[in-house]
Amino acid sequence: MTKKRVAVLISGRGSNMTALIAAAKAPGYPAAIALVVANVPDAAGLARAQHDGIATAVVDHRNFGADREAFERALDAQLAAHRIDLVCLAGFMRLLTPWFVRRWSGRLINIHPALLPQFKGLHTHRRALEAGVARHGATVHFVVPEMDSGPIILQDSVPVLAGDTEATLAARVLSVEHRIYPQALRLVAEGRATLPAVAARSE
Ligand code: GRF
Repeated sequence: MTKKRVAVLISGRGSNMTALIAAAKAPGYPAAIALVVANVPDAAGLARAQHDGIATAVVDHRNFGADREAFERALDAQLAAHRIDLVCLAGFMRLLTPWFVRRWSGRLINIHPALLPQFKGLHTHRRALEAGVARHGATVHFVVPEMDSGPIILQDSVPVLAGDTEATLAARVLSVEHRIYPQALRLVAEGRATLPAVAARSE
């Protein structure tokens, strides 16, 4: 089995990245985490990845001003240099342009802390509490140019409990994220979830 070479893109603590790294250590797992890229130099996840012996890179978006494609070309160059097959966004807090999204179409996935199509965007836990939903959760999806809108690969839910705060709900959802992201990456790496196939299913 040739393992797919995966890059994980982060902006912060990297707990989903850590879950992917842990899953990829299993001998039969179809993907290897070959690179972790952060767009902020002090992203805490970088140290964690280095501790696990994984190559890391920083592409600091602030060096590119308003030129988003220049930032993405630098990112793309890192991915090419490390012969990356698949890209996982994991708490990566930059919106990607259609240029980058199309370039990686079908090979670019994201985790979102809500049951899409509910609660796209930020502050999902606060908004779920405000809306009074009975269940909340997480979604792994293919990335398309429109934010948080690509075809869903996997999602799972947890109950919202009386007395939940943003923090308690976030923690419950995070444990779902850590479970479904490795499962979803496995499906994509094995070719069992593909963008056209998933898109056809959701039509
Ligand atoms: C996660 O909740 C993820 O779904 C969201 O940002 C958070 C990142 O957390 N996009 P971590 O950096 O993976 O710990």
